[in-house]
This record gives sequence, C-alpha cells and structure tokens, in this order.
Amino acid sequence: MFRTHTCGELRIAHAGQEVTLAGWVQRVRKMGGMTFIDLRDRFGITQLTFNQEKNADLCEKANKLGREFVIQVIGKVTERSNKNTQLPTGAIEILVNSLNVLNESQIPPFTIEDNTDGGDDIRMKYRYLDLRRTLVRENLELRHKIAFETRRYLDQLGFLEVETPVLIGSTPEGARDFVVPSRMNPGEFYALPQSPQTLKQLLMVSGFDRYFQIAKCFRDEDLRADRQPEFTQIDCEMSFVEQEDVLQTFEGMMKHLFRFVKNIDFTEDFLRMTWQDAMKYYGSDKPDIRFDMRLVELKEAVGGHNFVVFDSAEYVGGISASGCASYTRKQIDELTDFVKRPQIAAKGLVYIRCEENGSFKSSIDKFYTQEDLAGIASLFNAKSGDLILILAGDKTKTQKALCELRLEMGERLGLRDKNVYAPLWIIDFPLFEWDEETQRYFAMHHPFTSPKPEDIPLLDKDPGAVRANAYDLVVNGVELGGGSIRIFDSALQNKMFEKLGFSPQKAEAQFGFLMNAFKYGAPPHGGLAFGLDRLVALFAGLDSIRDCIAFPKNNSGRDVMLDAPSTIDSAQLDELNLRIDLQTT
Ligand code: AMO
Repeated sequence: MFRTHTCGELRIAHAGQEVTLAGWVQRVRKMGGMTFIDLRDRFGITQLTFNQEKNADLCEKANKLGREFVIQVIGKVTERSNKNTQLPTGAIEILVNSLNVLNESQIPPFTIEDNTDGGDDIRMKYRYLDLRRTLVRENLELRHKIAFETRRYLDQLGFLEVETPVLIGSTPEGARDFVVPSRMNPGEFYALPQSPQTLKQLLMVSGFDRYFQIAKCFRDEDLRADRQPEFTQIDCEMSFVEQEDVLQTFEGMMKHLFRFVKNIDFTEDFLRMTWQDAMKYYGSDKPDIRFDMRLVELKEAVGGHNFVVFDSAEYVGGISASGCASYTRKQIDELTDFVKRPQIAAKGLVYIRCEENGSFKSSIDKFYTQEDLAGIASLFNAKSGDLILILAGDKTKTQKALCELRLEMGERLGLRDKNVYAPLWIIDFPLFEWDEETQRYFAMHHPFTSPKPEDIPLLDKDPGAVRANAYDLVVNGVELGGGSIRIFDSALQNKMFEKLGFSPQKAEAQFGFLMNAFKYGAPPHGGLAFGLDRLVALFAGLDSIRDCIAFPKNNSGRDVMLDAPSTIDSAQLDELNLRIDLQTT
C-alpha cells in the first residue's frame, strides 16, 4: 500500500499509530536540530518532523528535499505541543522513521500557495501546477458537487442523461460556429454544437420525455469574464409541458443546489419580472436585484426648460444613490469619466445633490429652479443626502448606460455582497430583435422559440411586438440560464423561418431534419439550459468563469499550456484536401 491515510485525515485520535503517507513537499523548515515538512495532497496538509539527534541521516535526507518533491514517509502520529488551529490536522504531527523520495521536482515557476507570486500568464502556462493550489482545486471540487447534485435532482424527477454528438452541422444560437474539416468527405465540414438545441428537440420527438445532459458547447464569439469559447451547459428538455412547468421544475433544481451545495434555503418563490419591466426599471435583461436604485424615466418631467440636452433626447432617466450627496467634485468627475468610457459612451452626466438643509445643488441650476429640482427629486423619492444622477440620449443606449452606472454605484455603496443571492426569472422576452445593421429581425432566443399564442396575429402586422414563451434565470445580475417553450408545429416553424429571412430552400438545407421529424408526431415541449461555469463561479464568488474550469482558454481564445490553436503540418492538410491561403484584411 502506498499510503494508509491521506494528508487531510489524521487527528488526535490517531496518536500512537504508525502510518504511511504520500504527497508533495509544500515547505521545508529547519529549526535547530529539527526539520519540519508540510506534506500536501488533495485532501490537506500534514506536518512531518525529523529529529537530527535521533536520526541524523534521515534528517539530512529531509533537508535535501525541495519544493514539490513527491515523497512517501512512514512514521508515528504524535500529539503536537504547538498546535496549529488553522489546519484540520493541526493537532498532530508525524515523527518520521522512513523517507522514500518517489520523484524529484524542478523548482516550480511560482509558489504553490493561496497567495502565489505567479501572474496570470505563467499560471495558465503551468495550469497543472496552478491546480495544486487549494483555492483553485476547491473551485473544481465545487464544480463536481454542483454537477453531482444536478444529476441527483434530475434523476429523481425521471430525467434521462443522454449524450449527443459533438461533430454535427450548424446550430443557430447567435454566435459563429467552430468548424472541423472532414477527411472522408473532402471539402465538407462539421460544426461543433453551440448547444445541443435541435438534438434535444429530436429526443422529444423520440419520446424521451425528460432529457438532460451536462454538455460541452462551442461558440466562436468575443470573450468576456463570463464567456469561454468552450463551455458547459446543464441542458434540459421536457415534453408535455407549459412554461409554468419548466419554471417550477428548474426553480426546484436551483433551490436544491442552493440547499445541498451552499446550505442556503430559499423558502419563497423566486421573483419574476417581465422583460419590459427589466429594461424600464434596470436598463438590462439581467438586473442585479440585490439592491433597488431603480431607473426613473424623466423625459416628461424635465421637458420645456430650454435645456437642449434633455429636450432633444429620446430618453432622459436617472438613479438616486442614497447618502451620496456629499460626493466631491472629483468623485462626480470620476463618475462622468466612467459613463463616457467607450464601452458606455454616454455624452455627459447631470447630477442633483439633495442637500441636508432641504435645498438642491445641481449641474443644471441654470435651467431648473429649486422647485423644479424638488419635483424631480420627488420622482425618485429622494431624501436629503441623496445624489441623483441623470443621463440623456438614445433610449436603449441610455438605459444600458444607466444600468452600468447603477451597478457601479451599487459596487461603491457595498450593495453587491457576494454572499447574498437574489434569483429572478425574466419572462415575456420579445420573440424578435431588430438589427439596424442588416435591417432584419433576428430571433432573440433562437428560431425554435414559440410566440405567445395571443400574440400570433401580430407576427405579420408588428413582429417587434410579439412576445415569446421564453425565460431566463438571472442571479445577482448574471444570466445563469435560459430557455423557451418550442414551436412543435411545422407550419408555425416555417412561418418563423420566413420572418427570420430564411428562404424555404435555406430553411430546408439547415433544418430539414427537424422539420421532417416534426411531421411524425412531435409532442409539445420546452426546456432550458444553465451555464454550469457561470453557476460554479457564482457559488464560489469568482469574478471570472476561467477560475472554475480545469484548463481554460485565455482572452484570445488560446490554450497557452497546450499552445492551441496551432498550425498543422502539410501531410495533415493533404489528407484533408485543404490548402491554406490566408486572406490578409
Ligand atoms: P443560451 O444561448 O441562452 O441558450 O445559453 C444558455 C446558458 O449558457 C451559458 N452560456 C455561456 N457560458 C459561458 N460561455 C459562453 N460563451 C456562454 N454562452 C452561453 C449562459 C446561458 O444562460 N439552447 C438554448 C437553451 C434552450 O433554449 O434550452 C441555449 O443555448 O449561462
């Protein structure tokens, strides 16, 4: 046996036992005639001691060990005089009587400790060493627990886990596809699934009734802290359901995960908000409702005062930040710079300070009297000491900018506590989204999402006003998951393709298989998918999903450890009948 116990297992009750441990040398400390080694494995750290007086040879051997050497020791568990209450094994140490060096290690490029000296790039290049760090390993342990509890919950409800292929044709989820050339079919390509959407719908046609899969998805899109080109979904689909059934089932799943993974009980129903309200009150379809600070529309209230910025704007709106009237000029300038950043691109920021004496100070004093300002402040229910911040411009852009400003103020005021979770269903999404650039409608969710039956007559008259049976689960401003009730009728699906600008030929070429399947008795069905990476990041309080993925890509979509993507040799290209002719743009 390589070991009798792990490095996280021994307690005072084991004192007196002879044990064998194996692991990595975290640290060697020499103190007088004693040498102490912290021995680490996945389960913890145990202190080993070597005594120069009792066994000089063995102590010498221990002194020569370097960081990350792999060793095996035999020794006696002994109560420590100087206990370490920070460590679960801190009450004992091992008096070593035999040491076996299983493998040496080069000096690692960074310290393998919680507060490491390694920067991002070096840790990514040596990710297998980074994964030895407790903090990183714990994220993967949490990921396992979430995946395990997900399976337990869904299994109890009769969901079947079915694997679907990764080499498929294009699936439209709004991003670009990753493609793979086929050797056996020269000139032809597979696409990697952006999600198993169409396949899970086919499984419903097959009668599987309740499907789930912890599925790898691939999307070639611009990366952000919560986006990876390769990510994982908890993908689910159910037959013979309406929206309410899906929401109840997966609200149940989230409550199960909160209970069994985070030890948090949600006894109340999750809040629900229509997409319209989310945009109106939070300027976002994924509002962070851990704090209020709702957007207030001011266009009517502020018009007619010869202030051209407000008069000429399509939309004027603001937020009120409690207790911030004391903000200095410099702090307000900082906020102005914040909203003027290219990502937000607001033109300027108007403020109204609600002073302690009941008066108002603002950057628009020239145009508005004290009474006017009091009127505006009352729309926010602002009190003395509050700071009102106002933006004006194009409606959608300004609402988005206010959303960013609101989040920034929430952050500054400490209202975005990572240990507080505020789940929210967003419902009644629009079916279509208008794209100015291409002058056409896109499916806001995907082309298989059903319109609300009462809105079907609007499909021809006013497509932009049609609401969908689509929903997202948002927690703390993060879109954790989303889904919809699907169209299961070929005629309506064809109509949807037509509205999305697909010619019958193109629809047939891309989705003929699904349309055909629908001719053989498709049940009513619907489902959703959660982003597993985002869920783990949320539960772990991480800022980036990278930290809960074993081998993530960097912001340029590269795996710096494997050095992928990379060129392939000409023999491989020949086999694929491909020639590289890079276009320079
Ligand atoms: P959607 O495109 O909304 O829906 O994706 C579902 C969830 O997947 C996560 N997600 C991502 N996570 C990390 N990196 C990415 N690049 C990324 N893209 C998406 C998000 C998101 O909420 N087939 C539909 C689901 C359905 O209708 O059943 C779909 O894929 O958490």
